[in-house]
Amino acid sequence: MHDTLLLFGATGDLAQRYLFPSLIHLWRDRLLPEGFRLVAVGRQEMSSEAFRSWLRERMAAEAADDAAAVDGLLRSIDYVAVDLRDTAAIAAALSPYADRPSVSYLATPPDLFVPVAQGLSAAGVLADPSRLVLEKPIGRDLASAREINAALRACLDESRIFRIDHYLGKAAVQNLLALRLGNTLLEAVWQHRWIESVDILVAETAGVDGREEYYAGYGALRDMVQNHMLQLLALIAMEPPSNLDADSIREEKRKVLRALRPMGQADAAQDTVRGRYGAGVVEGRAVKGFVHDAPVETFVALRTWIDNWRWAGVPFRLVTGKRLAARATEVVVSFKPVSHWLFERPARGRERPNRLRMRLQPDETVELGLMGSLAAPEWGALELRPMSLDLSMSNSPQRRIAYERLLVDALRGNQTLFVRDDEVESAWQWIDSVERAWSATAQPVIEYPAGSWGPAEAAAFLPATLGQSRGGQ
Ligand code: BG6
Repeated sequence: MHDTLLLFGATGDLAQRYLFPSLIHLWRDRLLPEGFRLVAVGRQEMSSEAFRSWLRERMAAEAADDAAAVDGLLRSIDYVAVDLRDTAAIAAALSPYADRPSVSYLATPPDLFVPVAQGLSAAGVLADPSRLVLEKPIGRDLASAREINAALRACLDESRIFRIDHYLGKAAVQNLLALRLGNTLLEAVWQHRWIESVDILVAETAGVDGREEYYAGYGALRDMVQNHMLQLLALIAMEPPSNLDADSIREEKRKVLRALRPMGQADAAQDTVRGRYGAGVVEGRAVKGFVHDAPVETFVALRTWIDNWRWAGVPFRLVTGKRLAARATEVVVSFKPVSHWLFERPARGRERPNRLRMRLQPDETVELGLMGSLAAPEWGALELRPMSLDLSMSNSPQRRIAYERLLVDALRGNQTLFVRDDEVESAWQWIDSVERAWSATAQPVIEYPAGSWGPAEAAAFLPATLGQSRGGQ
C-alpha cells in the first residue's frame, strides 16, 4: 500500500489552495491509507515544527469546520527543505524514503519536473511500485512535451506516471461521461446525423493576477485549451471504450485528439479569435487590464472539426477567457431540426433546436431543451414553444474538490482520470498547428473590456444558451 505522499512545492499556491484542503477532507472522511505520512518538500529552510504552524495558520478556514482533521493531518507531516533545481541535493535529501512505496507529487513549476524526477530516481525513490504525479503544463509545445515525457520515462514506467488535468477530477465531468455512455436515448443520437454542433465554454471572472510571468509565456490557448478543453472535447467525442480500464478510455481519447483537423493558415482568420482583457468592471468591481509586452491572449475562441465518421462536418466551438462577464463552464450539444416541420408557429427555422446543456460550473445542472405545446384554444393552430427538462441530480452527494478524487486515485493507483503521454503529445500537436497559423498570419490579439463576453468578433462562437438562466432553454 502506498502510504507516503512526498509533496514538492508544499509552500506554493496550488498546495495551499487545493491540495492541503483536499487532504484535510480526505483525512476527515478516512479516505487516506492506514499509516499515512506526508513529506512536505519546499525550498524555504524551516523545521517540521515551523512548517506545521505555518500551515495551521493558512488552514484556519478548514480548522473552523473540522479542527480534528486539521490536527490529524498536521501530525502526519514532516518537512524537508531542499533546492528543487539541485538534482544531487534532492537525491541526498529524499533517499531516506527510497525503501517504501510512495507517491511523489510535483506541485511545482513545470521546469522543475525533470530535475526533481531525476533526483528522486537517483535516490531510488521512484523504484517500482512508487509513483509520480505531475501537474500541467507538460511542456509548451510538442517538442518540449516529448522531451519531458522521454526524460520521465527514463526515470520510471508510464504505468506509474500520473499526469493531472484537474478537470477530470470534477464530478460533473465524470457525469458527462456517464450521461452519454449510460443512456440509450443519447447513445442513439450521438453523432453527425443528429448533432448540429457542440459548444464548450469555460468562462472565468478571475484575471491573470499574480501569474503574469507564467501566463505571458503560455496564453489561454496553452493554459486552458491544450488540456482542460481538449480533454472535455475528447470525452464528448470519443468512441465508447470496450471497458472502463484506464488505457481503454485513454486510447479512445487519444484517437479523437489525433483526428482533430489541424488549423490551416487560411482558416485561422475565420475560425479563431484571440483577445486580451483591458480595464473594466467585473462582478461590480473595477479591475485593471492585463498589460505585458508579450503578445499573449487571455481569450480564445476556436471552431474545429474532428475528421472521422462519427463527427464529419460537426463544428466544435471552444471558447475560454479570463475576466469575462460571468463564471460559467458549459457543454452544449445542439441537435439538428426534425426532418419535416408541421407547425405554423414558430415558423420553420425559428424553432429552437433540441439541446443538451450540461453546466459544470459554478452550479452542476443538466437540461434537455425540447419543443412542446400548451395547446390553448385561443391559439388556433398548434403552437410550439421551447421547454426544458431538468435532469440535474437532486440528491447529488457532497461536493468535493476535484483534487480529492485525484489524490485518492493516485494513492490507489487508478490512472483512469490521468492523462497519458501520447494524449498530451497529440493535444500539443494540434495546438502547435493553431500557434503556427497565428504567427504565419499575424493574427491580432483584440482588446476586450473586462466584464464583457470577449471581443465582439467572437460573438458567433459563443453558445446560443449564454445568458439563458436555468430552465430557460
Ligand atoms: C488552471 C489554469 O489549470 O485552471 C488557470 O492554469 C485557470 O488559468 C484554472 O484559472 C481554472 O480552473 P477551475 O477549476 O477554476 O475552472
